[in-house]
Amino acid sequence: MKDYKKTLQGQAQAELSGAGMYFTLARIAKAHGLEDVSMQFTELANQHADQASFYFTASNRYPQETHALWQFIKGLSKAEEYGEKAILNLSRQLEEAGHKDIAQTVQTFAAQHKYHAQVTHQLVEKYAPQAVKQNNKKRYVCSVCGYEYEGDLESEPENYTCPVCTMPKSAFKLKGE
Ligand SMILES: [Fe+2]
Repeated sequence: MKDYKKTLQGQAQAELSGAGMYFTLARIAKAHGLEDVSMQFTELANQHADQASFYFTASNRYPQETHALWQFIKGLSKAEEYGEKAILNLSRQLEEAGHKDIAQTVQTFAAQHKYHAQVTHQLVEKYAPQAVKQNNKKRYVCSVCGYEYEGDLESEPENYTCPVCTMPKSAFKLKGE
């Protein structure tokens, strides 16, 4: 199953790239005023994205058991907060480099990250088991994506990776240090 898992995740990544490509072609077609072409590429993109989610699910890329799932979403909410800041930084850099239009759009994407953080946070508050909502555990932050791990990271196997960005265990820093 291990080899299988890698193959499934590889296929998921390939489908995701395909989705990105078709969404981009849809955007370009739209810029050319080709609404019908844009809509059809969007449909193809959505099918690729749907296939990617199937392969990710089949390979257990993200937790599916209730407690682990909500623990993951809680940590993911922090990664979205982190994402907002990172994207705002990118927007500032673009603005300084004179790319005002791009910077402005990127700024709206930062706002979307903030919204994602709010949505995931609210879902945790509403649906997560009580044990997940409690904040009395040790917390570690992924230095790459901002995902928060709660609990004893040391007890995870050496090959543990960040569930959001796949960086190794060594990328995590104990929070507050
Ligand atoms: Fe990460």
